[in-house]
Amino acid sequence: MRTTAIMNLKGGTGKTVTTINAAAILAQVHEKNVLAIDADSQASLTEFLQRGPADGLALGGMSDLLRGMRAMATHSKLLNVDLLAADETLMALDISAAGSGAADPMALANWLKDREDEYDHVLIDCPPAFSAAAMAALIAADDVVIPLKLDAFGIRGLANILEQIKNMRRVNPDLKIAGVLPTMYYPDDIQQKAEAELRRSLAAYDVHCFHHIRRTLKMDGSTFEQLPLLTYSPKSKTCWEYKLFVRDLLKGGEDDEL
Ligand SMILES: Nc1ncnc2c1ncn2[C@@H]1O[C@H](COP(=O)(O)OP(=O)(O)OP(=O)(O)O)[C@@H](O)[C@H]1O
Ligand SMILES: [Mg+2]
Repeated sequence: MRTTAIMNLKGGTGKTVTTINAAAILAQVHEKNVLAIDADSQASLTEFLQRGPADGLALGGMSDLLRGMRAMATHSKLLNVDLLAADETLMALDISAAGSGAADPMALANWLKDREDEYDHVLIDCPPAFSAAAMAALIAADDVVIPLKLDAFGIRGLANILEQIKNMRRVNPDLKIAGVLPTMYYPDDIQQKAEAELRRSLAAYDVHCFHHIRRTLKMDGSTFEQLPLLTYSPKSKTCWEYKLFVRDLLKGGEDDEL
């Protein structure tokens, strides 16, 4: 089992969309048993993937798990993808909850250890903040993917997230950075220059940069219809780029079979 946290402390960088599309591609193209974990109180991943309203939370979700209660993954609407759901009660578990004992940051890692044989790949959709759930995700993860929007704010915020990951290595020494994934790319001069600059600075940090994911109008339709690109727009360039990303992710990991 490999566990990948999809994380950026900045909001709106494509974390949830990346989790959804990577989960669908891992399950349908690579025939993996996938578990998608919603670690964000906004619960967008849960809304997208759960089969019926509140279906994902019926047996306990991420918030219950961190509070020491029972939690159970349920089948999502995607074949071979299970979901550990979230709801707004996660919002109360900020980073101080991990210090005060209100949330157990080890809970997710321990819960996943009992499910080693059930899943090939676990993807954790992290919140845009360093909350108790984000901390739990970085403790449970083997590696981290950082979706990044190519603008000045996103690139300046990169040092911050790399620092947080470095800090978490005190608790999870084997935590790797799988790479930075440029998202919502469009091929104009500014974006091309920004991507080149990003690649240069990542090389200095010795961090991998995945092929970019381009911006597409199809994404709005995909989220409204609650269908991953693999179903909603399988021939789009963005779908192809997400397939490329997943192939690269698998190649870079221990699970190297391509
Ligand atoms: N490649 C893309 N093309 C067009 N729109 C995109 C693309 N990727 C993401 N988006 C859109 O950008 C918005 C933010 O994406 P998403 O919700 O995945 O980001 P996020 O990082 O999970 O946000 P948050 O930090 O709030 O959790 C959404 O409206 C989504 O549909
Ligand atoms: Mg999100």
